[in-house]
Amino acid sequence: MQTTEREPEIRADFERHGQAHVLRHLGTLDDARRAALIAQLASVDLALVSRLVKGGEESKVDYASVKPAPYVALGSPAGSARAHGEALLRAGKVAVFTVAGGQGTRLGWKGPKGTFPATVVTGKPLFRVFAEQIAAAEKRYGRSLPWYIMTSPLNSADTQAFFRDNNWFGRNPADTFLFEQGTMPSVTFDGRLILESPQSLALNPDGHGGAIRALHASGALEDMQARGVEHMSYFQVDNPMVRIADPVFLGLHASSEGSSAEMSSKMVAKRNAAEKVGVFCEVAGKTAVIEYSDMPAELTNSLDAQGKLRFNAGSIAIHAISVEFMQRLTQGDFALPFHRAKKKVPYWCDDAKKTVEPAEPNAIKFEAFIFDALGLARKSLVMETSRTEEFAPLKNATGEDSPAWSHQIQSNRNGDWLEKFGVKIPRKPNGDVDARIEIAAETALEADDLADVALPREIKSGEEVLL
Ligand code: UD1
Repeated sequence: MQTTEREPEIRADFERHGQAHVLRHLGTLDDARRAALIAQLASVDLALVSRLVKGGEESKVDYASVKPAPYVALGSPAGSARAHGEALLRAGKVAVFTVAGGQGTRLGWKGPKGTFPATVVTGKPLFRVFAEQIAAAEKRYGRSLPWYIMTSPLNSADTQAFFRDNNWFGRNPADTFLFEQGTMPSVTFDGRLILESPQSLALNPDGHGGAIRALHASGALEDMQARGVEHMSYFQVDNPMVRIADPVFLGLHASSEGSSAEMSSKMVAKRNAAEKVGVFCEVAGKTAVIEYSDMPAELTNSLDAQGKLRFNAGSIAIHAISVEFMQRLTQGDFALPFHRAKKKVPYWCDDAKKTVEPAEPNAIKFEAFIFDALGLARKSLVMETSRTEEFAPLKNATGEDSPAWSHQIQSNRNGDWLEKFGVKIPRKPNGDVDARIEIAAETALEADDLADVALPREIKSGEEVLL
Protein backbone atom coordinates (compact mmCIF):
# COMPACT_ATOMS: atom_id res chain seq x y z
CA MET A 1 0.00 0.00 0.00
CA GLN A 2 1.24 3.51 -0.84
CA THR A 3 1.92 5.56 2.25
CA THR A 4 -0.54 8.26 1.11
CA GLU A 5 -3.31 5.66 0.98
CA ARG A 6 -2.66 5.10 4.66
CA GLU A 7 -3.54 8.73 5.39
CA PRO A 8 -6.95 8.07 7.03
CA GLU A 9 -5.47 5.37 9.24
CA ILE A 10 -2.51 7.57 10.21
CA ARG A 11 -4.79 10.53 10.87
CA ALA A 12 -6.97 8.40 13.17
CA ASP A 13 -3.90 7.16 15.01
CA PHE A 14 -2.54 10.67 15.55
CA GLU A 15 -5.97 11.87 16.68
CA ARG A 16 -6.19 9.02 19.17
CA HIS A 17 -2.83 10.04 20.63
CA GLY A 18 -3.74 13.74 20.77
CA GLN A 19 -1.12 14.57 18.13
CA ALA A 20 -3.32 15.46 15.11
CA HIS A 21 -2.03 19.07 15.11
CA VAL A 22 0.96 17.93 13.05
CA LEU A 23 -1.41 17.18 10.16
CA ARG A 24 -2.84 20.68 10.05
CA HIS A 25 -1.02 21.74 6.87
CA LEU A 26 -1.62 18.52 4.99
CA GLY A 27 -4.37 20.01 2.79
CA THR A 28 -2.07 22.79 1.57
CA LEU A 29 0.84 20.54 0.54
CA ASP A 30 1.61 19.35 -3.01
CA ASP A 31 1.66 15.61 -3.61
CA ALA A 32 5.37 15.09 -3.04
CA ARG A 33 5.43 17.01 0.25
CA ARG A 34 2.24 15.37 1.38
CA ALA A 35 3.72 11.95 0.72
CA ALA A 36 6.92 12.93 2.53
CA LEU A 37 5.04 14.03 5.65
CA ILE A 38 2.82 10.95 5.65
CA ALA A 39 5.87 8.69 5.33
CA GLN A 40 7.54 10.50 8.22
CA LEU A 41 4.46 10.26 10.42
CA ALA A 42 4.08 6.57 9.59
CA SER A 43 7.56 5.94 10.96
CA VAL A 44 6.79 7.45 14.39
CA ASP A 45 6.11 5.00 17.21
CA LEU A 46 3.28 6.96 18.85
CA ALA A 47 2.78 4.45 21.64
CA LEU A 48 6.46 4.79 22.60
CA VAL A 49 6.26 8.59 22.45
CA SER A 50 3.20 8.53 24.73
CA ARG A 51 4.98 6.29 27.22
CA LEU A 52 8.04 8.53 27.19
CA VAL A 53 5.94 11.65 27.68
CA LYS A 54 4.29 10.02 30.70
CA GLY A 55 7.78 9.22 32.00
CA GLY A 56 7.14 5.47 32.19
CA GLU A 57 10.39 4.60 30.43
CA GLU A 58 12.78 6.41 32.71
CA SER A 59 15.28 4.20 34.45
CA LYS A 60 15.01 4.45 38.20
CA VAL A 61 18.34 4.29 39.96
CA ASP A 62 18.49 3.87 43.72
CA TYR A 63 21.32 6.35 44.19
CA ALA A 64 21.73 5.47 47.89
CA SER A 65 23.05 2.03 46.88
CA VAL A 66 25.33 3.17 44.03
CA LYS A 67 29.03 2.36 44.50
CA PRO A 68 32.13 3.27 42.50
CA ALA A 69 32.85 0.59 39.86
CA PRO A 70 35.98 -1.54 40.22
CA TYR A 71 38.58 -1.08 37.51
CA VAL A 72 41.95 -2.35 36.29
CA ALA A 73 44.37 0.36 37.44
CA LEU A 74 46.76 2.14 35.10
CA GLY A 75 49.80 0.11 34.16
CA SER A 76 48.60 -3.15 35.71
CA PRO A 77 47.37 -5.18 32.69
CA ALA A 78 49.57 -8.21 32.18
CA GLY A 79 51.86 -8.50 29.15
CA SER A 80 49.76 -11.43 28.02
CA ALA A 81 46.85 -9.02 27.40
CA ARG A 82 48.85 -7.22 24.74
CA ALA A 83 49.96 -10.43 23.05
CA HIS A 84 46.37 -11.65 23.00
CA GLY A 85 45.08 -8.37 21.55
CA GLU A 86 47.76 -8.42 18.86
CA ALA A 87 46.84 -11.99 17.95
CA LEU A 88 43.19 -10.92 17.53
CA LEU A 89 44.28 -8.08 15.26
CA ARG A 90 46.53 -10.33 13.18
CA ALA A 91 43.69 -12.82 12.83
CA GLY A 92 41.32 -10.13 11.45
CA LYS A 93 38.95 -10.49 14.41
CA VAL A 94 38.66 -6.78 15.15
CA ALA A 95 36.62 -4.00 13.53
CA VAL A 96 36.56 -0.28 14.24
CA PHE A 97 33.29 1.43 15.09
CA THR A 98 32.86 5.21 15.30
CA VAL A 99 29.66 6.97 16.33
CA ALA A 100 29.41 10.19 14.37
CA GLY A 101 25.71 10.95 14.20
CA GLY A 102 25.63 13.86 16.67
CA GLN A 103 25.14 17.49 15.81
CA GLY A 104 28.26 19.11 17.27
CA THR A 105 26.34 22.30 18.03
CA ARG A 106 28.50 23.25 21.03
CA LEU A 107 31.59 23.40 18.82
CA GLY A 108 29.82 25.76 16.43
CA TRP A 109 30.86 23.71 13.38
CA LYS A 110 28.41 23.50 10.53
CA GLY A 111 29.54 20.27 8.89
CA PRO A 112 29.79 16.75 10.34
CA LYS A 113 32.05 16.82 13.41
CA GLY A 114 34.40 14.32 11.77
CA THR A 115 35.34 17.00 9.22
CA PHE A 116 36.57 19.35 11.98
CA PRO A 117 40.31 20.24 11.82
CA ALA A 118 41.82 18.47 14.80
CA THR A 119 45.60 18.20 14.75
CA VAL A 120 47.97 20.77 16.13
CA VAL A 121 50.24 21.51 13.15
CA THR A 122 48.55 20.32 9.96
CA GLY A 123 44.92 20.68 11.11
CA LYS A 124 43.97 17.24 9.82
CA PRO A 125 40.24 16.58 10.14
CA LEU A 126 39.12 14.01 12.70
CA PHE A 127 38.12 11.45 10.06
CA ARG A 128 41.60 11.64 8.50
CA VAL A 129 43.26 11.26 11.90
CA PHE A 130 41.31 8.05 12.48
CA ALA A 131 41.76 6.76 8.92
CA GLU A 132 45.54 7.21 9.13
CA GLN A 133 45.67 5.41 12.47
CA ILE A 134 43.61 2.55 11.08
CA ALA A 135 45.83 2.35 7.98
CA ALA A 136 48.95 2.24 10.17
CA ALA A 137 47.45 -0.55 12.29
CA GLU A 138 46.44 -2.45 9.13
CA LYS A 139 50.02 -2.27 7.96
CA ARG A 140 51.36 -3.39 11.32
CA TYR A 141 49.06 -6.39 11.71
CA GLY A 142 48.88 -7.32 8.03
CA ARG A 143 45.07 -7.44 8.07
CA SER A 144 42.34 -5.04 7.08
CA LEU A 145 40.53 -3.38 9.95
CA PRO A 146 37.04 -2.75 8.62
CA TRP A 147 35.72 0.64 9.77
CA TYR A 148 32.01 1.12 10.52
CA ILE A 149 30.80 4.67 10.96
CA MET A 150 27.36 5.60 12.20
CA THR A 151 25.98 8.84 10.82
CA SER A 152 22.51 10.33 11.15
CA PRO A 153 20.06 11.81 8.65
CA LEU A 154 21.52 15.20 9.65
CA ASN A 155 24.97 14.47 8.29
CA SER A 156 25.08 11.24 6.29
CA ALA A 157 25.16 12.85 2.83
CA ASP A 158 27.91 15.28 3.88
CA THR A 159 29.90 12.49 5.53
CA GLN A 160 29.65 10.27 2.44
CA ALA A 161 30.77 13.18 0.26
CA PHE A 162 33.72 13.90 2.56
CA PHE A 163 34.98 10.33 2.34
CA ARG A 164 34.49 10.27 -1.43
CA ASP A 165 36.21 13.63 -1.93
CA ASN A 166 39.15 12.42 0.15
CA ASN A 167 39.38 9.19 -1.81
CA TRP A 168 38.55 7.17 1.33
CA PHE A 169 41.83 8.46 2.78
CA GLY A 170 43.75 6.02 0.65
CA ARG A 171 42.18 2.94 2.23
CA ASN A 172 40.19 0.33 0.37
CA PRO A 173 36.62 1.78 0.07
CA ALA A 174 35.22 -1.72 0.65
CA ASP A 175 36.64 -1.55 4.18
CA THR A 176 34.65 1.54 5.18
CA PHE A 177 30.98 1.05 5.93
CA LEU A 178 28.85 4.15 6.55
CA PHE A 179 25.34 3.69 7.87
CA GLU A 180 22.58 5.85 9.32
CA GLN A 181 21.06 5.71 12.76
CA GLY A 182 17.36 6.19 13.49
CA THR A 183 15.52 9.26 14.77
CA MET A 184 13.08 10.16 17.52
CA PRO A 185 10.59 13.02 17.43
CA SER A 186 11.22 15.94 19.79
CA VAL A 187 8.23 17.07 21.88
CA THR A 188 7.20 20.26 23.65
CA PHE A 189 7.31 20.31 27.44
CA ASP A 190 3.64 19.28 27.43
CA GLY A 191 4.32 16.31 25.19
CA ARG A 192 3.16 17.58 21.78
CA LEU A 193 5.05 16.65 18.63
CA ILE A 194 6.64 19.61 16.84
CA LEU A 195 6.53 20.62 13.18
CA GLU A 196 9.79 22.03 11.90
CA SER A 197 8.11 23.02 8.63
CA PRO A 198 4.59 22.42 7.25
CA GLN A 199 5.77 19.11 5.77
CA SER A 200 8.27 17.91 8.33
CA LEU A 201 8.39 16.90 11.99
CA ALA A 202 11.21 17.99 14.28
CA LEU A 203 13.21 14.77 14.61
CA ASN A 204 16.52 14.18 16.38
CA PRO A 205 19.00 11.30 16.07
CA ASP A 206 18.02 8.64 18.61
CA GLY A 207 21.32 8.80 20.54
CA HIS A 208 24.37 6.55 20.19
CA GLY A 209 22.28 3.87 21.88
CA GLY A 210 20.49 3.78 18.53
CA ALA A 211 23.68 2.14 17.26
CA ILE A 212 22.54 -1.30 18.33
CA ARG A 213 19.46 -1.32 16.13
CA ALA A 214 21.26 0.55 13.36
CA LEU A 215 24.18 -1.92 13.31
CA HIS A 216 21.65 -4.67 12.78
CA ALA A 217 19.27 -2.89 10.39
CA SER A 218 22.08 -1.65 8.15
CA GLY A 219 23.62 -5.09 7.74
CA ALA A 220 26.82 -3.95 9.49
CA LEU A 221 26.64 -6.74 12.08
CA GLU A 222 26.10 -9.32 9.38
CA ASP A 223 29.03 -7.89 7.44
CA MET A 224 31.24 -8.16 10.53
CA GLN A 225 30.24 -11.77 11.05
CA ALA A 226 30.87 -12.61 7.39
CA ARG A 227 34.40 -11.20 7.82
CA GLY A 228 35.00 -13.21 10.98
CA VAL A 229 35.08 -10.10 13.20
CA GLU A 230 34.50 -10.85 16.89
CA HIS A 231 35.11 -7.53 18.63
CA MET A 232 34.56 -3.85 17.88
CA SER A 233 36.86 -1.06 18.95
CA TYR A 234 34.26 1.65 19.71
CA PHE A 235 34.86 5.40 20.09
CA GLN A 236 33.23 8.78 19.59
CA VAL A 237 34.08 11.02 16.68
CA ASP A 238 35.20 13.89 18.92
CA ASN A 239 38.45 12.48 20.37
CA PRO A 240 41.51 12.81 18.08
CA MET A 241 43.71 11.09 20.69
CA VAL A 242 41.83 7.80 20.86
CA ARG A 243 44.09 4.75 20.63
CA ILE A 244 42.08 2.81 18.06
CA ALA A 245 42.12 -0.98 18.45
CA ASP A 246 44.49 -0.78 21.43
CA PRO A 247 45.88 -4.33 21.70
CA VAL A 248 46.24 -4.18 25.50
CA PHE A 249 42.62 -3.15 25.98
CA LEU A 250 41.33 -5.63 23.40
CA GLY A 251 43.40 -8.41 24.92
CA LEU A 252 42.15 -7.68 28.41
CA HIS A 253 38.56 -7.50 27.16
CA ALA A 254 38.77 -10.77 25.25
CA SER A 255 40.91 -12.33 27.96
CA SER A 256 42.62 -15.51 26.82
CA GLU A 257 42.03 -17.08 30.22
CA GLY A 258 38.39 -17.48 31.04
CA SER A 259 35.53 -16.07 29.01
CA SER A 260 35.59 -12.87 27.01
CA ALA A 261 33.88 -9.76 28.36
CA GLU A 262 30.91 -8.63 26.29
CA MET A 263 31.46 -4.90 26.70
CA SER A 264 34.49 -3.22 28.26
CA SER A 265 35.35 0.41 28.83
CA LYS A 266 38.25 2.77 29.35
CA MET A 267 38.24 5.39 32.09
CA VAL A 268 40.44 8.26 33.23
CA ALA A 269 40.58 9.86 36.67
CA LYS A 270 38.24 12.85 36.61
CA ARG A 271 39.88 16.29 36.33
CA ASN A 272 37.59 17.59 39.08
CA ALA A 273 34.08 17.00 40.36
CA ALA A 274 32.55 19.35 37.78
CA GLU A 275 34.04 17.67 34.71
CA LYS A 276 31.27 16.78 32.27
CA VAL A 277 31.93 13.08 31.85
CA GLY A 278 29.84 10.04 32.71
CA VAL A 279 31.09 8.09 35.75
CA PHE A 280 31.58 4.32 36.06
CA CYS A 281 29.54 3.07 38.98
CA GLU A 282 28.23 -0.21 40.26
CA VAL A 283 24.46 -0.29 40.21
CA ALA A 284 22.71 -3.40 41.53
CA GLY A 285 25.90 -5.42 41.10
CA LYS A 286 26.46 -4.37 37.49
CA THR A 287 28.85 -1.86 35.97
CA ALA A 288 27.02 1.21 34.72
CA VAL A 289 27.79 4.72 33.53
CA ILE A 290 25.83 7.45 35.24
CA GLU A 291 25.79 10.48 33.01
CA TYR A 292 27.05 13.74 34.54
CA SER A 293 23.72 15.40 33.99
CA ASP A 294 21.88 12.61 35.88
CA MET A 295 24.29 12.17 38.80
CA PRO A 296 23.06 13.75 42.03
CA ALA A 297 25.42 16.46 43.35
CA GLU A 298 25.97 14.59 46.67
CA LEU A 299 27.49 11.70 44.72
CA THR A 300 29.40 13.86 42.26
CA ASN A 301 31.05 15.77 45.10
CA SER A 302 31.46 12.99 47.65
CA LEU A 303 35.02 12.34 48.88
CA ASP A 304 36.70 9.21 50.20
CA ALA A 305 38.74 8.92 53.42
CA GLN A 306 41.82 10.34 51.64
CA GLY A 307 39.84 13.36 50.46
CA LYS A 308 39.76 12.18 46.83
CA LEU A 309 36.65 12.04 44.65
CA ARG A 310 34.81 8.82 45.45
CA PHE A 311 33.26 8.65 42.01
CA ASN A 312 36.43 9.31 40.09
CA ALA A 313 36.22 6.96 37.10
CA GLY A 314 35.39 9.26 34.20
CA SER A 315 34.10 7.66 31.02
CA ILE A 316 36.00 8.62 27.88
CA ALA A 317 33.44 6.76 25.78
CA ILE A 318 35.90 4.16 24.51
CA HIS A 319 34.66 0.57 24.55
CA ALA A 320 35.44 -2.88 23.28
CA ILE A 321 32.19 -4.60 22.32
CA SER A 322 31.68 -8.19 21.29
CA VAL A 323 29.83 -8.72 18.02
CA GLU A 324 27.98 -11.67 19.51
CA PHE A 325 26.71 -9.44 22.34
CA MET A 326 25.28 -6.92 19.89
CA GLN A 327 23.75 -9.75 17.89
CA ARG A 328 22.15 -11.20 21.02
CA LEU A 329 20.64 -7.84 21.99
CA THR A 330 19.09 -7.29 18.58
CA GLN A 331 17.49 -10.71 18.61
CA GLY A 332 15.68 -10.44 21.91
CA ASP A 333 12.93 -8.04 22.88
CA PHE A 334 15.48 -5.53 24.04
CA ALA A 335 15.20 -1.76 24.43
CA LEU A 336 17.64 0.67 25.97
CA PRO A 337 15.95 3.34 28.08
CA PHE A 338 15.57 6.81 26.59
CA HIS A 339 17.08 9.75 28.44
CA ARG A 340 15.49 13.16 28.11
CA ALA A 341 17.23 16.49 27.57
CA LYS A 342 15.78 19.98 27.34
CA LYS A 343 16.98 21.51 24.08
CA LYS A 344 16.34 24.40 21.68
CA VAL A 345 14.40 22.90 18.78
CA PRO A 346 13.46 25.08 15.76
CA TYR A 347 9.68 25.01 15.16
CA TRP A 348 7.27 26.17 12.47
CA CYS A 349 5.30 29.26 13.47
CA ASP A 350 1.98 29.51 11.63
CA ASP A 351 1.58 33.26 12.29
CA ALA A 352 5.08 34.21 11.13
CA LYS A 353 4.92 31.56 8.37
CA LYS A 354 8.48 30.56 9.03
CA THR A 355 10.72 28.28 11.10
CA VAL A 356 11.69 30.00 14.35
CA GLU A 357 14.93 29.35 16.25
CA PRO A 358 14.02 29.59 19.95
CA ALA A 359 16.30 31.55 22.29
CA GLU A 360 15.61 29.21 25.22
CA PRO A 361 15.07 25.44 25.44
CA ASN A 362 11.54 24.72 24.28
CA ALA A 363 11.51 20.98 23.77
CA ILE A 364 12.53 17.57 25.03
CA LYS A 365 14.78 15.31 22.99
CA PHE A 366 14.85 11.58 23.67
CA GLU A 367 18.15 9.74 23.29
CA ALA A 368 19.35 6.25 24.13
CA PHE A 369 22.93 5.81 25.38
CA ILE A 370 25.12 2.88 24.29
CA PHE A 371 26.63 2.58 27.76
CA ASP A 372 23.24 1.49 29.12
CA ALA A 373 24.01 -1.81 27.38
CA LEU A 374 26.70 -2.41 30.05
CA GLY A 375 23.97 -3.59 32.41
CA LEU A 376 22.96 -6.26 29.88
CA ALA A 377 26.47 -7.62 29.42
CA ARG A 378 27.27 -10.96 31.08
CA LYS A 379 30.83 -9.81 31.73
CA SER A 380 32.30 -6.33 31.61
CA LEU A 381 35.52 -4.69 32.72
CA VAL A 382 36.79 -1.15 33.09
CA MET A 383 40.43 -0.30 32.40
CA GLU A 384 42.14 2.90 33.49
CA THR A 385 44.16 4.83 30.92
CA SER A 386 46.13 8.05 30.98
CA ARG A 387 44.31 11.24 30.08
CA THR A 388 47.36 12.71 28.35
CA GLU A 389 47.73 9.57 26.25
CA GLU A 390 44.16 9.19 25.11
CA PHE A 391 41.66 11.91 25.81
CA ALA A 392 41.51 15.38 24.30
CA PRO A 393 37.98 15.68 22.92
CA LEU A 394 36.74 18.55 20.80
CA LYS A 395 33.46 19.61 22.31
CA ASN A 396 33.36 23.36 22.95
CA ALA A 397 34.41 26.40 20.92
CA THR A 398 36.39 27.86 23.85
CA GLY A 399 37.69 26.81 27.28
CA GLU A 400 37.75 23.19 28.43
CA ASP A 401 37.60 20.60 25.64
CA SER A 402 38.05 23.29 22.98
CA PRO A 403 40.43 23.05 19.99
CA ALA A 404 43.13 25.05 21.85
CA TRP A 405 42.74 22.77 24.88
CA SER A 406 42.95 19.62 22.73
CA HIS A 407 46.02 20.95 20.86
CA GLN A 408 47.85 21.48 24.15
CA ILE A 409 47.16 17.89 25.24
CA GLN A 410 48.26 16.57 21.84
CA SER A 411 51.55 18.48 22.13
CA ASN A 412 51.95 17.31 25.74
CA ARG A 413 51.56 13.69 24.74
CA ASN A 414 53.93 14.03 21.82
CA GLY A 415 56.44 15.85 24.01
CA ASP A 416 56.28 13.00 26.56
CA TRP A 417 56.90 10.46 23.79
CA LEU A 418 59.92 12.37 22.48
CA GLU A 419 61.35 12.93 25.94
CA LYS A 420 61.37 9.19 26.43
CA PHE A 421 63.96 9.08 23.63
CA GLY A 422 66.09 11.88 25.05
CA VAL A 423 64.72 14.82 23.02
CA LYS A 424 64.92 18.07 25.01
CA ILE A 425 61.39 19.49 25.28
CA PRO A 426 60.57 23.08 26.31
CA ARG A 427 58.01 23.29 29.14
CA LYS A 428 55.86 26.08 30.54
CA PRO A 429 55.87 26.66 34.34
CA ASN A 430 52.75 24.44 34.68
CA GLY A 431 54.50 21.55 32.90
CA ASP A 432 52.70 21.95 29.55
CA VAL A 433 54.84 21.53 26.46
CA ASP A 434 55.79 24.95 25.07
CA ALA A 435 55.81 23.94 21.40
CA ARG A 436 53.35 22.59 18.85
CA ILE A 437 54.20 18.97 18.12
CA GLU A 438 52.35 16.64 15.78
CA ILE A 439 53.27 13.00 15.19
CA ALA A 440 51.54 11.21 12.32
CA ALA A 441 50.19 7.71 12.94
CA GLU A 442 52.41 6.47 10.13
CA THR A 443 55.42 7.62 12.15
CA ALA A 444 54.29 6.20 15.49
CA LEU A 445 51.15 4.62 16.89
CA GLU A 446 52.66 4.65 20.38
CA ALA A 447 55.76 6.03 22.07
CA ASP A 448 57.96 2.96 21.54
CA ASP A 449 57.55 3.21 17.76
CA LEU A 450 59.79 6.29 17.88
CA ALA A 451 62.77 4.05 18.64
CA ASP A 452 63.40 3.63 14.91
CA VAL A 453 62.70 7.24 13.90
CA ALA A 454 65.33 9.94 13.31
CA LEU A 455 64.53 12.51 16.01
CA PRO A 456 65.71 16.07 16.63
CA ARG A 457 67.94 16.52 19.65
CA GLU A 458 66.00 19.47 20.97
CA ILE A 459 62.76 21.32 20.29
CA LYS A 460 62.84 25.06 20.86
CA SER A 461 60.26 27.05 22.74
CA GLY A 462 57.33 27.97 20.43
CA GLU A 463 58.59 25.71 17.63
CA GLU A 464 56.24 23.80 15.31
CA VAL A 465 57.34 20.23 14.73
CA LEU A 466 55.81 17.61 12.45
CA LEU A 467 57.05 14.05 12.56
C1 UD1 B 1 29.80 11.93 26.06
C2 UD1 B 1 29.23 10.91 27.05
C3 UD1 B 1 29.89 11.04 28.41
C4 UD1 B 1 31.39 10.91 28.23
C5 UD1 B 1 31.91 11.94 27.24
C6 UD1 B 1 33.38 11.69 26.93
C7 UD1 B 1 26.97 10.66 26.27
C8 UD1 B 1 25.54 10.86 26.52
N1 UD1 B 1 27.81 11.13 27.16
O1 UD1 B 1 29.36 13.20 26.48
O2 UD1 B 1 29.44 10.04 29.30
O3 UD1 B 1 32.02 11.09 29.48
O4 UD1 B 1 31.21 11.82 25.99
O5 UD1 B 1 33.82 12.50 25.92
O6 UD1 B 1 27.35 10.08 25.30
N2 UD1 B 1 26.21 10.64 18.81
C9 UD1 B 1 25.66 9.91 17.78
N3 UD1 B 1 24.31 9.92 17.66
C10 UD1 B 1 23.49 10.59 18.50
C11 UD1 B 1 24.06 11.33 19.55
C12 UD1 B 1 25.44 11.34 19.68
O7 UD1 B 1 26.36 9.29 16.98
O8 UD1 B 1 22.27 10.51 18.32
C13 UD1 B 1 27.68 10.65 18.95
C14 UD1 B 1 28.27 12.00 18.64
O9 UD1 B 1 28.55 12.14 17.28
C15 UD1 B 1 29.52 11.97 19.51
C16 UD1 B 1 29.09 11.13 20.70
O10 UD1 B 1 27.99 10.38 20.29
O11 UD1 B 1 30.55 11.26 18.85
C17 UD1 B 1 28.89 11.91 22.01
O12 UD1 B 1 27.76 12.65 21.99
P1 UD1 B 1 27.51 13.92 22.91
O13 UD1 B 1 26.05 14.06 23.04
O14 UD1 B 1 28.27 15.07 22.39
O15 UD1 B 1 28.05 13.50 24.36
P2 UD1 B 1 28.93 14.33 25.40
O16 UD1 B 1 28.10 15.29 26.16
O17 UD1 B 1 30.12 14.85 24.74
